[in-house]
Amino acid sequence: MNETPRGPRYQQISRQLKAAIEQGELVPGKRLPASRVYAQELGVSRATVEAAYGELVAQGWLERRGQAGTFVSAGVVPGPVATESVWYGGEQPEPQPFQMGLPALDLFPRAQWARVMGRRLRTQTRFDLALGDVCGEAGLRTAIVEYLRFSRSIECLPEQVFITTGFAASMMLILQTLGKVGDKIWLEDPGFPLIRPLIARQGMTLCPIPVDDEGLCVEAGLQRAPDARFALLTPAHQSPLGVALSLPRRHQLLDWAAHREAWIIEDDYDSEFRYQGKPLPPVKSLDAPQRVIYAGTFSKSLFPALRTAWLVVPLPQVAAFREQASLAACGVPLLWQMTLADFIREGHFWRHLKKMRQHYAQRRQWLEQTLVEQGFSVVPQQGGIQLVMTVEGDDRELARRGRAARLAVQALSDWRIDSRGKSGLLMSFTNISSLAMAQQQVRMLAAIIK
Ligand SMILES: Cc1ncc(COP(=O)(O)O)c(C=O)c1O
Repeated sequence: MNETPRGPRYQQISRQLKAAIEQGELVPGKRLPASRVYAQELGVSRATVEAAYGELVAQGWLERRGQAGTFVSAGVVPGPVATESVWYGGEQPEPQPFQMGLPALDLFPRAQWARVMGRRLRTQTRFDLALGDVCGEAGLRTAIVEYLRFSRSIECLPEQVFITTGFAASMMLILQTLGKVGDKIWLEDPGFPLIRPLIARQGMTLCPIPVDDEGLCVEAGLQRAPDARFALLTPAHQSPLGVALSLPRRHQLLDWAAHREAWIIEDDYDSEFRYQGKPLPPVKSLDAPQRVIYAGTFSKSLFPALRTAWLVVPLPQVAAFREQASLAACGVPLLWQMTLADFIREGHFWRHLKKMRQHYAQRRQWLEQTLVEQGFSVVPQQGGIQLVMTVEGDDRELARRGRAARLAVQALSDWRIDSRGKSGLLMSFTNISSLAMAQQQVRMLAAIIK
């Protein structure tokens, strides 16, 4: 593809199209010209137009509707980030029914947390008022090292751990430390959509790689973009389909990364929650070639307002990460980091996880059983805090109807980039606190979509 001083031609085209959408010239639902026709108009190859369309599909600005063509996504609103239909939530004071990305807010031991934080607050010294380590407090990093050794068989040193304000901040730190504009990154398709615009903003080229019942199809990645610099994936429990990356694929991925000097970003966002069987060890625990960057978060295991996540980086990269992290202070306040370290060290974190596993198994069963009784079919998953239910027809339309009735279901199609497959609705069960509540919510859903 031809390159100019302003970057590859396809990126110029995709920037122009994006600007037209942002400024409202191209409205949601508008069909774009067929790539062949548009290519002739612009005097470029069809592949160039296809690459521009593909990038905008990956970022959520456009959607493909099979034979009908490529359209401006129905959910986009003028403005830089288009996520009307897929969102973390947070604007609403109370969780909406089925809202994803939230742990059980009713079960967090707030009194215990307040005691631990109150003690820290009372015993603070004047030195605790200064700026802490830019990479995170030593006490918290040590507590995370011990937790990872015990629960995930990951052996690392505190200096390999970097504290951030969440997965997005973790990704920024990785890409700014190790990436450069134009680098390719494998992404799971379907996969977590909220992170895509941020990666695209860093100037990376998103390469969607399909997922099957063994997880990310490494073979497809090797064929489509063997020269990628990064692979971002959720090996423990693929988001959203819930499959685990098979052991042969874990080895294949590591071999590729070692051979090509690429980086594997292992997003282990909800591996704490598994209800049957023993989980496979994380890719990080097999990382003899030192190509894996492990990303964890407390958003699911504790609560999202904590805004605390972490990275474990390979030892040879610690200095580069530290240099990048030093450009800004650590975003998590010292008092919170110290409280969290105490909370883990004193065993409250571990006890909370144990309790939550039981509650989530129960809440999931309430929702699953109720959906099945209503004639819906649920994709089997061994863990996690969300469910996928398969549906017939246009899942985006069903999700839109659900949202209009304040049911926060999401369409599986909105998590896809190029992949085709079953239609589905994604939903969480974490805040369903009784069988009666599950029945009431599922009845509302059934009334809307049946
Ligand atoms: C796939 C995935 N990765 C990571 C995260 C964690 O995000 P954060 O730490 O910013 O809350 C989430 C949260 O919803 C997620 O779904």
